[in-house]
Amino acid sequence: MTTPHTIAIDGPAASGKSTLGKLLADHFGYIYFDTGVLYRALTYVALEQAVDLADAAALAKLAQTSNFEVLPPTIADGRQYTVLANGEDITWPLRAANVERNVSQVAAQPAVREALRDIQRHIGKSGNVVMAGRDIGAVIMPDAQLKIYLDASVEERAQRRAQELNARGRSISYREVLDDLNRRDAKDAANTFLADDAITITTDGRSPEEVFQAILSVIGVEAQA
Ligand code: CDP
Ligand code: CDP
Repeated sequence: MTTPHTIAIDGPAASGKSTLGKLLADHFGYIYFDTGVLYRALTYVALEQAVDLADAAALAKLAQTSNFEVLPPTIADGRQYTVLANGEDITWPLRAANVERNVSQVAAQPAVREALRDIQRHIGKSGNVVMAGRDIGAVIMPDAQLKIYLDASVEERAQRRAQELNARGRSISYREVLDDLNRRDAKDAANTFLADDAITITTDGRSPEEVFQAILSVIGVEAQA
């Protein structure tokens, strides 16, 4: 394989998409785009404006009239990027419990997915991009030159996410995170796709660096074939 210029990374929550996506983007000098941010940003704005989360048309309209921007980090507080919604910095609120609990319901609605599709495809078309989500390889960038599906057991993912949240100062137990992930996995299942031509990497017991090397060797091995 020649160096891929479009890389899709899909997989369930806390499988390592952002971590690996960022490593690959930095390695190749590409943009990293985490599409989950869009669904989270829409959920945040809908909650702020008390929009009925079951009203697909209202959510789709909100998606079309809101201005979401993903920028390089503007503050050195551990963030990977800065997210603005209509000019408001919502980078950390996007990770809050109320967004986490409601995002899958918002994302499950076809009108919402359609409203957010073009912006994702537009970013994908610009090339030199690593894009992470649930449906990137199958729906958003079906022509991506490299498609990775990262997987891990829900127990391992819960352990990682609990550690991450507690390190960031949110006191939450492993059990609560596990329950949240199980609930979110179930709601996300209908829109999480393993593309036919994706390479699946199971990451249980493997560090981000090991997974990164595995992905590079997939690219390298194919290049020699
Ligand atoms: O980081 P984590 O995997 O926990 O979540 P995320 O990638 O920020 O995604 C948050 C939620 O957005 C997911 O649980 C899905 O409900 C939704 N999502 C989606 O439906 N499609 C995508 N391409 C990305 C996220
Ligand atoms: O983006 P996604 O929700 O798929 O996962 P993430 O936020 O990149 O990763 C969740 C946590 O798992 C982070 O704290 C990573 O350091 C850790 N982790 C990983 O991403 N990959 C591994 N192979 C092992 C741990």
